[in-house]
Amino acid sequence: LASAASLLIGASAHAAGLTVGFSQIGSESGWRAAETSVTKQQAEKRGVDLKFADAQQKQENQIKAIRGFIAQGVDAIFVAPVVATGWEAVLTEAKEANIPVFLLDRGIDGPEDLYTTMVASDQVLEGKVAGQWLVKEQAGKDCNVVELQGTTGSSPAINRKKGFEEAIAGTSSIKIIRSQTGDFTRAKGKEVMEGFLKAENGGKNICALYAHNDDMAVGAIQAIKEAGLKPGTDIKVVSIDAVPDIFKALAAGEANATVELTPNMAGPAFDALEKLKKDGTVPPKTIITESKLYTQADDPMKVYEEKKGLGY
Ligand code: AHR
Repeated sequence: LASAASLLIGASAHAAGLTVGFSQIGSESGWRAAETSVTKQQAEKRGVDLKFADAQQKQENQIKAIRGFIAQGVDAIFVAPVVATGWEAVLTEAKEANIPVFLLDRGIDGPEDLYTTMVASDQVLEGKVAGQWLVKEQAGKDCNVVELQGTTGSSPAINRKKGFEEAIAGTSSIKIIRSQTGDFTRAKGKEVMEGFLKAENGGKNICALYAHNDDMAVGAIQAIKEAGLKPGTDIKVVSIDAVPDIFKALAAGEANATVELTPNMAGPAFDALEKLKKDGTVPPKTIITESKLYTQADDPMKVYEEKKGLGY
């Protein structure tokens, strides 16, 4: 009995004393900043020593950070991969060092055995939910859509585009007339939207904007206003993330819909890691988070208040 008890004490002490390396993409969006702060909060709450590395949008920096974590002999590596390709070599090194790798919020191409678990949303579904909202909203009326894509080569940019296209595929009245990357940032979202407006008769040919994240939508809303049009009315705006600022825009009638992405990817990853370390429980390959639609009808200012404190 005594040895069973000490085994248990040993197991939980080990879970609390974990060292985890986290290679974060950067701070391109409000959602990304929230994910970083939730990860730090979760680590602190659990007594995990978190080694944090900001890659400033560069895959080479992420690869360097991961190699550093391997050299330090961390208990696990969390990585939010900036793009989907090019991970095989470094993740094989982590595997050979027996360090479990958890992908947070973005997926990678290549064999699944390169990582232990991915905690992410169903990004194709996010695009579909946004597209289905527009199909319903338009109810058969013609609609020219401009699309602001996320970072080129990233899994959310690829999958959110795919999901939206699938949703509008059966509706010949809705067409994407322009599509360009806005790098998931407010500034680029505004700049690219300005180009779309200029190219499309000052915006008069545009019925809706689909942005792969809220920050680009917020930048684009500014561009629409500066062009003398009313965002949310003259040009409908649908995007993804559900950051606090988009709820302000929904409340002001300047945005129409957003699909929620939780910034708490780390919580489920730490849960899975702790179980793995405690008794060898192999976590599921993917842990999928919810994708909930919010519109102007959902009491946006109330949600805005609730969002504060959740890493935002
Ligand atoms: O990978 C998730 C995406 O990355 C978020 O939707 C976006 O805001 C972020 O930059």
